[in-house]
Amino acid sequence: MKSKLWLGVLALVLAAGGTALTALYANGNSNADDVADDQVPAADAAAPDPAAITRGAYVAVQGDCAACHTKPGGNAYAGGYGLQTPFGVIYSTNITPERDTGIGTWTERDFFRAVRHGKRQDGALLYPAMPYNAYVKMNDADLHDLWAYIRSLKPVAQAPTPNTLGFPYNIRLAMLGWNLLYFKNAPYVAEPGQPAQWNRGRYLVDGAGHCGACHTPKDALGGDTSAYLQGAELLGGYAPEITGNPHVGVGSWSIEQVAQYLKVGSNHMAVAAGAMGEAVEHSTQYLNGPDLAAIAVYLESLPGSGAQAPAAISANDPAMLRGAHIYETQCMACHNVQGQGIDGMVTGFADNPGIRALSPSNLISTVLKGGRAAVTEGNVTGAGMPSFAWRLDDADIAAVLTYVRNSWGNAAPAVGSPLVSKARAAVHAEPVLDKQR
Ligand code: HEC
Ligand code: HEC
Ligand code: HEC
Repeated sequence: MKSKLWLGVLALVLAAGGTALTALYANGNSNADDVADDQVPAADAAAPDPAAITRGAYVAVQGDCAACHTKPGGNAYAGGYGLQTPFGVIYSTNITPERDTGIGTWTERDFFRAVRHGKRQDGALLYPAMPYNAYVKMNDADLHDLWAYIRSLKPVAQAPTPNTLGFPYNIRLAMLGWNLLYFKNAPYVAEPGQPAQWNRGRYLVDGAGHCGACHTPKDALGGDTSAYLQGAELLGGYAPEITGNPHVGVGSWSIEQVAQYLKVGSNHMAVAAGAMGEAVEHSTQYLNGPDLAAIAVYLESLPGSGAQAPAAISANDPAMLRGAHIYETQCMACHNVQGQGIDGMVTGFADNPGIRALSPSNLISTVLKGGRAAVTEGNVTGAGMPSFAWRLDDADIAAVLTYVRNSWGNAAPAVGSPLVSKARAAVHAEPVLDKQR
């Protein structure tokens, strides 16, 4: 199905004639590149501007550039980090100002084109694994500063790692079709009826923060659907709804509680782990107070999916009784007697929107694989959640999750054991070793 669609897109692009479409695409460049210098290559930059470099470092943190452009244990910004996508593995590139393997020969204009429009120096199109479809919203001032910072980095010689994409995804020209379908080449335009704080929040969420890359559900071609920030399946997890919806979004959290989650990695009930733990560790913990508050104000203002609480499953339901028993013997020591967790360390389940999320896949994968809480300057503990794959079978895991999703003020659909079986295979979790408890 997916590859048929892709072939369709490819055919569309080729049939309509590359040139005509290139022209159309180029004319759409309302968010201009010619505001950037096209004379001085990065490696030749003279007279660095320390103030711009400092501001640019903060923009890089907002964009989380280092997280994707650094491989584990590797040199910062030298690339080689593999992004798992449904289409294969895509490796980030070396963006240090090194001439042969990095972007040392690039000018500021080449850089603007890559970051905002997804085009390489040689004109080839980047894959949207590089979130240029969000960065296009970043303004000229921020990009000038970001460039000042990037070209001030230590040059590192590190050749790129080849991608492992299959046909037809390995054809970069197919991205022309993708861009026509999904890439909105428009700058951020402030909403006139909204206060400056709200606009700053939306600018960060939709632009550098690229929150929708994970939180907005994707269609078969990896493009954003209209269910903006309403929760999306990731490979081996789920990024929950983060709108003002009080049931499954963050509407029941105060502005301070949202900001605290992003700053410290935990608040009165939630603990960030997995992909969000990384986003907090590398990016959001370093945002300043006004920016975090602006993000929170903006998220809370979104009506979101409108999902409402169903009736809670009865405590006498067989799955609930089985789940309660497993909870008491396996989970209660950490998650506490009334599901209140341990402040700043262990997720509280009571009245927690993340636990009621429409998709339980994050919960299932955490129980199967375990997890680690974000480690931040504001919370250096980073408690661990053990893996239960070897100890609990699929029906046990389904039952205990059904129980926590329907206790202490929560109400959510039951978790079925076939879903757990599927996840066990998908995340390559261990089989059950021993049924004794
Ligand atoms: C989610 C991961 C991710 C994030 C975040 C990210 N990038 Fe990238 N970036 C990539 C990938 C993957 C590629 C290579 C894409 C390809 O080969 O088509 C790339 C390519 C690039 C390129 C093109 C380099 C070349 O040699 O072709 C530049 C420049 C770049 N990124 C800059 C940035 C900057 C600046 C930021 C922060 C504002 C950033 N990236 C954030 C994943 C990311
Ligand atoms: C790389 C993917 C990714 C990106 C990018 C990302 N998130 Fe998340 N986010 C997640 C995942 C996965 C979770 C669930 C984490 C957990 O339960 O431990 C999450 C959880 C959250 C939560 C807690 C929701 C709840 O009900 O528990 C908030 C708030 C949040 N993210 C806000 C943001 C904001 C704001 C941004 C952009 C600045 C962002 N996220 C960017 C993946 C991501
Ligand atoms: C040794 C302490 C410990 C035990 C025992 C434990 N947990 Fe956890 N759990 C944690 C910590 C710490 C976190 C936060 C870090 C994370 O999400 O990985 C967590 C997080 C979770 C989450 C993630 C919530 C989210 O928002 O994504 C779920 C679900 C969960 N635990 C379920 C369980 C279940 C079910 C059991 C019993 C079968 C259990 N835990 C036993 C410590 C524990």
